[in-house]
Amino acid sequence: MIKKVILLSLLLIITQNRFAMAQNPTLETIFSRKSVRSYTDEPVSNKDLTLLVKAGMAAPSGMNKQPWEFLVIKDRAKMVELSNKLPYALMMKDAQALIVVIGNPKTSAYWYLDCSAAAQNILLAAESIGLGAVWTAGYPYEDRMETIASELSIPKPYRPLCVIPIGYPKGEQTPKNKWKEEKLHMNKW
Ligand SMILES: Cc1cc2nc3c(=O)[nH]c(=O)nc-3n(C[C@H](O)[C@H](O)[C@H](O)COP(=O)(O)O)c2cc1C
Repeated sequence: MIKKVILLSLLLIITQNRFAMAQNPTLETIFSRKSVRSYTDEPVSNKDLTLLVKAGMAAPSGMNKQPWEFLVIKDRAKMVELSNKLPYALMMKDAQALIVVIGNPKTSAYWYLDCSAAAQNILLAAESIGLGAVWTAGYPYEDRMETIASELSIPKPYRPLCVIPIGYPKGEQTPKNKWKEEKLHMNKW
C-alpha cells in the first residue's frame, strides 16, 4: 500500500513538472537549450539574426551600462578563415552566420559579466526559434581574443567575449541533464 502511494506521488510530481514545462515556454527553452555544433545548409535570415541580437541587448547589465556591441558575420570566406585560426571553433566554417559578442572595458570593468548575460540570451533565443548555436570562447584567452579582433578588424579597446556560430541543427541533439540535488544548499551549506 505504502509503495503504491509513493509510486502514485512520484507519478503526480513528474506529470506536474511536465505540465508546468509545457505551460511555460521560457522554461521549455531553458531546459532544451544545448550546444549545437553541426548545421544544415539552410540559410538564416537577417530578420532572425537581428532578433537574436535584440535578445542579447535585452540582457541585464551592471548599472545598466550595456557595455556591448554585436558583430554579425555572414561572409563565408571570413568564417572559414577565422575557424582555421581557432582550433576550438572548427564548427564555424559550417555555420550560416556568426554573432560576435564584444565588450567595451572602458564602459564597464565588468564588461565580460554583462556580455555573458547577453550571450546566454542569444543562445536561448536561438533555441526558442529552432536555431542551433554554441558559445565559443574568446575571453579569457588573450591569444583567442587577439585572433578574433585582428581577423575581424575589431578596434581597440573592444574585446570579443565569444563567437556564437548559428545555423539550423543538423541531426538530433539532446540537452544534457545537469540537475544535481547535492549542489542545492537550502538555508545552510
Ligand atoms: C565560457 C564558455 C566557453 C566555451 N568555449 C567553447 C569553445 O571554445 N568551443 C566549444 O565547442 N564549446 C565551447 N563552450 C560550450 C561548452 O562546451 C558547453 O556549453 C558545455 O559542454 C555544456 O554543454 P551544453 O551547452 O550542451 O549544455 C563554451 C561555453 C562557455 C560557457
